[in-house]
Amino acid sequence: MSLPRQMHLGVFILGAGHHIAGWRMPGAEAGSENLDLIVRVARKAEEGKFDLLFLADAVNTRPDMHPSMVLRLEPLTLLAALSMVTRNIGLAATASTTYTEPYNLARYLGSIDHMSGGRCGWNIVTGAFAEAAANFGRDKHPEHDERYAIAAEFVQVAKALWDSCEDGIWQLDQAAGRFIDAAKMHTPDFKGRYFSSKGPLNMSRMPQGYPVMIQAGASEAGRDLAGQIAEIVYAVHQDMAVAQAFSADLKQRAAAFGRSPDHIKIMPGVSAIIGGTEAEAKAKLATLGECADPVVALRVLAERLGHDLGGYDLDGPVPDLPPSGIMRGHAETLQALAKKENLTLRQLRNVVAATMGHRLIVGTPEQVADGLQEWFEAGAADGFNIMPPWFPGAFDDFVDQVVPILQKRGLFRREYTASTLRGHLGLPRPEWGG
Ligand SMILES: Cc1cc2nc3c(=O)[nH]c(=O)nc-3n(C[C@H](O)[C@H](O)[C@H](O)COP(=O)(O)O)c2cc1C
Repeated sequence: MSLPRQMHLGVFILGAGHHIAGWRMPGAEAGSENLDLIVRVARKAEEGKFDLLFLADAVNTRPDMHPSMVLRLEPLTLLAALSMVTRNIGLAATASTTYTEPYNLARYLGSIDHMSGGRCGWNIVTGAFAEAAANFGRDKHPEHDERYAIAAEFVQVAKALWDSCEDGIWQLDQAAGRFIDAAKMHTPDFKGRYFSSKGPLNMSRMPQGYPVMIQAGASEAGRDLAGQIAEIVYAVHQDMAVAQAFSADLKQRAAAFGRSPDHIKIMPGVSAIIGGTEAEAKAKLATLGECADPVVALRVLAERLGHDLGGYDLDGPVPDLPPSGIMRGHAETLQALAKKENLTLRQLRNVVAATMGHRLIVGTPEQVADGLQEWFEAGAADGFNIMPPWFPGAFDDFVDQVVPILQKRGLFRREYTASTLRGHLGLPRPEWGG
């Protein structure tokens, strides 16, 4: 008898909250460098039986960036710390294929997988911030489609390096004096268009074989890469029909690459503002809106749309600007929302201040659970990337009040049944050389 399909849940930890004013809420902590807070959030997520936690990243900053991003800990270092204080939850983070070398990154991610007993996930990004180029001695950020070509090759090299050793290389035969089985070590000798790396990687095969591959591309090139390699896909959707079509498209692309559509999990972002009554939840949203810094909010919107918005009237219509090749998914979703609801630039700025373009559910715990159930049952999502407006309170509310409702409805696990991230997601461990 097959078990009923259940949703997957991840918490997207942006330390100061996803709402740009989240850090100003009573009891909120401004936490992107606050290890103590992040450990508490990770443990809370584990108490709620979440599949994974996720840390985003960029390799640049400026003073008017989103408060959660302006100053932050390096996420892979942070995952290593979290691996020591958690037991079951998946540990995922962004690492750029544009500004790292495959050999280095393969080691970092492999180490996290080893240290955590098979819980590592990698969000493969090509870099959403062009200013990063100057931090790496580059004149400019590579063009959009070239960044994806680099990313595809990067993943190929990383996999080859991760397959340097077959399973079972450790012998530790004290009597015979055999430390490892040298025949199980191979030299990938990868030579590509962008990278070459001889190998072998100086690490045995990781518990999961490869980390769980995550991708968030929304463009043609992004979706193609996701169809080929992603096991989790993050997305920015407001509209259920659009989300259904996106999910069907990604699953079809995966099938076209010979993969099972079940092995690519679509997890759109959702931010929930929870109150004892709908009115109470709405009052919290209003307070957040009043506390939001309009300059930072407009800057975040400009970043998402990929255009400078300085010259436009805030009370005029949202200008119809073409996607710029940086945050295409966000840009398309925001433009569609503005059109559908006839929003002014000021109104769209306020939407971005709240969720950066992701879906927002404001209401009672039941209403939040209903909103998740509806999309899950309609095939618009396999799960959700939960984006709390602030930490720790808003996330505690989700775990304490929404998760039990999902569990009661049979939509979410009550206990972990696996100890690896692949296990939580129902993904097979890849064969060596796969
Ligand atoms: C939930 C989510 C998380 C993301 N995290 C990051 C990140 O940490 N760093 C980054 O540079 N881009 C991040 N992105 C941006 C994507 O990697 C991608 O560049 C963007 O969605 C545009 O897609 P496209 O390049 O295919 O047009 C994220 C996107 C989403 C939806």
